[in-house]
Amino acid sequence: MKTYHWATLGCGVIANQLAQAMQKDGRTLYSVANRTYENAVNFARKYGISKVYQNIQELFEDDNVDIIYISTPHNTHIQYIKEALKHGKHVLCEKSITLNLQELEEAKKLADQHHVILAEAMTIYHMPLYKKLHEIIQSNALGELRMIQMNFGSYKEYDMKNRFFNPSLAGGALLDIGVYALSFIRSFMSSVPDNVISQVKFAPSGVDEQAGILLMNQVGEMATVSLTLHAKQPKRGMVAFDKGYIEIYDYPRAEKAMITYTENQCQEIIQCGNSDDALRYEVYDMEQTVSGISEEMHLDYTFDVMAIMTKIRKTWGFAYPEENQQS
Ligand SMILES: NC(=O)c1ccc[n+]([C@@H]2O[C@H](COP(=O)([O-])OP(=O)(O)OC[C@H]3O[C@@H](n4cnc5c(N)ncnc54)[C@H](OP(=O)(O)O)[C@@H]3O)[C@@H](O)[C@H]2O)c1
Repeated sequence: MKTYHWATLGCGVIANQLAQAMQKDGRTLYSVANRTYENAVNFARKYGISKVYQNIQELFEDDNVDIIYISTPHNTHIQYIKEALKHGKHVLCEKSITLNLQELEEAKKLADQHHVILAEAMTIYHMPLYKKLHEIIQSNALGELRMIQMNFGSYKEYDMKNRFFNPSLAGGALLDIGVYALSFIRSFMSSVPDNVISQVKFAPSGVDEQAGILLMNQVGEMATVSLTLHAKQPKRGMVAFDKGYIEIYDYPRAEKAMITYTENQCQEIIQCGNSDDALRYEVYDMEQTVSGISEEMHLDYTFDVMAIMTKIRKTWGFAYPEENQQS
C-alpha cells in the first residue's frame, strides 16, 4: 500500500494524540496548519514534523498532501472540509463532523464529485473490541437485539474559554458526547432508529447541558441515552438480547466487555485491543478505505447519527449561531 502523507489542521488535545499514534507506528505527520501559527510551529517541533504552513489555505494547495485530519471546533469543520475536498484531499474530520445533516449532505456531494473519501473520526467504529463483539452477535449466540442503554457524563466547568459550553464554538452535550452514544447505538441496531423522543436541560450559556433520549427502529429495537456535560457518569454501554447481555466498559475507546448468557448465567470476559491505540486503529482503517482495500469508515452510520441529532435539536428549538444565519 502507498505511504500516505497526512496533514493535520488543528493542533490541540486530540491532534496531539494523532501525532503520538503516528509516532508509535514509526511515522510522522507530513505537515501541520493551524489558526495560530506559533502553536503549529511548537507542535511541529514536538513531533518532528517538517512542514508548517504560514496560513491554512497553503495546506489545501499542497499537492503532496493526501489526507487532511481536521480537529478544530465543530462549527469550523464544514468550511475546512469543503476546501479540502475541492482540492482533491481525503478528509478525516473529528466528531461531530458537521453541525447538521444539511452540511453533511453538501460535504458528501463534494467528496463524490472529487472522488475522495470523507469520514468522521469515530473511534467506536475502529476499536477491535467492537469488531469482535459484532462477530459474536452475528453468530447468533445472543439471539435478537432488544434494548441498549448508554450513559455518557463528563464534568466540565461553565467556562466560556473552552468549547464545551460555548455556543459560538458549537458546544453542548449532544455534539460533543451524544454523538458517541448514538454512534454506538447505530452500530449495534439493525436499522436506523427513526422514532426518537427526548428531554433536554440547557446550560446557562444556552447550549444543551444534559439530555435523556429514547430511540426505536422499525423492528422494535430500542435504546435509551443519558447525557450530561456537568456530572460524571460511568461510560458504560449495555446491549441486551433475548439470550443474554453485553456490558461494555469505558466506551468509546473500550477494550473490555462482559457477556452474560442468561440461559445458564455463564459469564465471558472479552478483552480485545488497547484504548491507547484508538487513533492508530482509526488511521489504519482510513488508509484501508482510501486505498480501496476495504470500506471501514461507516459514513452511512455518520449520516444516520447526524440525521438523528439534527432532528432532536429541532424538537428542542435549539440552533447554533451559524444555523440562524443559514436560515
Ligand atoms: N479532546 C478530546 O479528547 C477529543 C476527543 C475526540 C474528539 N475531539 C474533537 O476534536 C475537535 C477538537 O477538540 P480538541 O479537544 O482537540 O480541541 P482543542 O484542544 O481546544 O484544540 C482546538 C484546535 O482548533 C483550533 N481552533 C480553535 N478555534 C478555532 C477557530 N475558530 N478556527 C480555526 N481553528 C480554531 C485551535 O487553534 P489555536 O492554536 O489557534 O487555538 C486548536 O488547534 C472537536 O471536534 C472535538 O469534538 C476531541
